[in-house]
Amino acid sequence: MTCESLTTAGALLAARLSRARRAAVLTGAGISAESGIPTFRSGANALWRDRKPEDLATPEAFARDPGLVTGWYLMRLRMLLDALPNPGHTALAEIERRFVERRAFFSVITQIVDGLHHAGGSSDVVELHGSIRHWRCVACARERQLTADFVRSESERGGPIECGCGALMRPGVVWFGEALPTHAWALADAVASRAEVFIVAGTSAAVYPAAGLVAIAKRAGAFVVEVNPEATEATALCDLVVRARSGEFLPLIV
Ligand code: APR
Repeated sequence: MTCESLTTAGALLAARLSRARRAAVLTGAGISAESGIPTFRSGANALWRDRKPEDLATPEAFARDPGLVTGWYLMRLRMLLDALPNPGHTALAEIERRFVERRAFFSVITQIVDGLHHAGGSSDVVELHGSIRHWRCVACARERQLTADFVRSESERGGPIECGCGALMRPGVVWFGEALPTHAWALADAVASRAEVFIVAGTSAAVYPAAGLVAIAKRAGAFVVEVNPEATEATALCDLVVRARSGEFLPLIV
């Protein structure tokens, strides 16, 4: 059912959430769009509009041209330096706080790598695609959190980033062709399987296995709600469809 009135949809979802012991949200790039961060597949400045994932977001691309791939991720990190959580992120944090208050569970399962759910106050967050802020050495696996100053100086210098051991550092994100972190996936699968309410916000639901969580939740009996200005591959599975921006709609629930 598509609900035209945001207030009615908000009240309906709030009532469902207030009765649920376990609920979750699956988020994608759209949740951070109102923080000024481009999505991958929607809008005029979508990241994959004039670039190809196979040139920038695969292990083969990094092996072929580590400087190019590093430069692209540093460019995305620069866009993040001044980005703040928006009302969508903070509403989800507030929903989690209310669940915790009554000893219930509300989890954020996310495909975003920008860290804005944590910055917005959520603590039960499963980062399925890793984090763009944490890099690791391809040889010795040493980890490093990139600071703003480091991002600026490395962007100016250009080229790949070296680890102390002499090998290269890569962003701590999941590239196409790589498996999701085992623990994160197991957790997401368990959360989706037990959720009574499952919200899908700001994702095109085009990339698997993350997108498969919607069907997992639906099969397990969850009330599935989509929050997205556009139709997606998950729409057909949803019990309630809200055509709105997440930063506009999610605050209405709290
Ligand atoms: N509020 C809610 N949804 C929005 C908003 C907004 N303000 N703005 C855009 N959207 C929606 C778009 O309509 C689109 O359906 O967000 C979705 C963004 O989809 P994608 O760009 O495909 O992002 P995502 O689903 O996160 O992509 C999945 O693809 O390249 C990979 O690894 C990358 O994690 C990413 C994965």
